[in-house]
Amino acid sequence: MFEEGQYFAPVKAKDDGSLTVQLGEGHPGLHDPKYRARRDLLATQADRWTPGQPAPLVDYTAEEHEVWRVVSADLRDKHRVYACQEFLDGKEALGLPVDRVPQLEELSDRIEPMTGFRYRPAAGLVPLREFYGALDENAFWATQYVRHHSVPLYTPEPDVLHEVVGHGNTLADPRFTALYAAAGGAAKRVESAEALEFVSKVFWFTLEFGVVHEADGLKAYGAGILSSPGEIEEFRGMTIRPLDIVAMGTQDYDITHYQEVLFAARSFDQIGDVVGEFWDSCDDDSIAALKKGAVTLSSTSSS
Ligand SMILES: [Fe+2]
Repeated sequence: MFEEGQYFAPVKAKDDGSLTVQLGEGHPGLHDPKYRARRDLLATQADRWTPGQPAPLVDYTAEEHEVWRVVSADLRDKHRVYACQEFLDGKEALGLPVDRVPQLEELSDRIEPMTGFRYRPAAGLVPLREFYGALDENAFWATQYVRHHSVPLYTPEPDVLHEVVGHGNTLADPRFTALYAAAGGAAKRVESAEALEFVSKVFWFTLEFGVVHEADGLKAYGAGILSSPGEIEEFRGMTIRPLDIVAMGTQDYDITHYQEVLFAARSFDQIGDVVGEFWDSCDDDSIAALKKGAVTLSSTSSS
């Protein structure tokens, strides 16, 4: 079983302003100087981007295109079985290439007429307020690097395959982008770090790792599952709980492993009714009240 997560390697600025990506122990590219130089270059390019400019063009190598081809082929059949209908609709509308890594800029030009969203290039981890603030402006921060070629079906970090195959197909469908925009609005509205964390956890358990019941079984709509060749085959065996804002907003998770607890909506409409409605209306006070209620409930039930 692959261990796959959404861990971002930290980046560090050198004296000349260029960035170094600090890959962690166990990263498949850690001992590959060519790969590390590549990651540093792409991070530096993204870091130099300024709003209003096109996302930097990446001169992807034959090796990187091959990784894209292998993962796209692997996920093609799995999406048919495990992806929810709304994702499949977005995928058909976007028509991603399967034999080459597409550029963020060309994707933005295709997605914008459909939903108004565009990509912004990210050097690495984008701070929460910045990431969600962009969603409120119909923009999505995305990394551009490709996972290490030695293990194409595994990545310890969200690479361009996650950002584009996982999120891009959803950015092409207005039913999804209404949710992204609502999450962005909520994150802009709340002021405390605790409330922002709550909003972010709800995002994690929905747009990253959400699942939904359909007539022929449990399907995934979260980008984290839909971009992972391993996790997509495992999610039905996890602990599946009903959609619940308080439970999602207070549930701890480990980013370095498959998600063991998932929250299932009864239908895609229910995600909008429950999660979209929460994001549209929440503020610091309402979230503090929800958290207090959760603590009271758990102390009552455990006593
Ligand atoms: Fe993601």
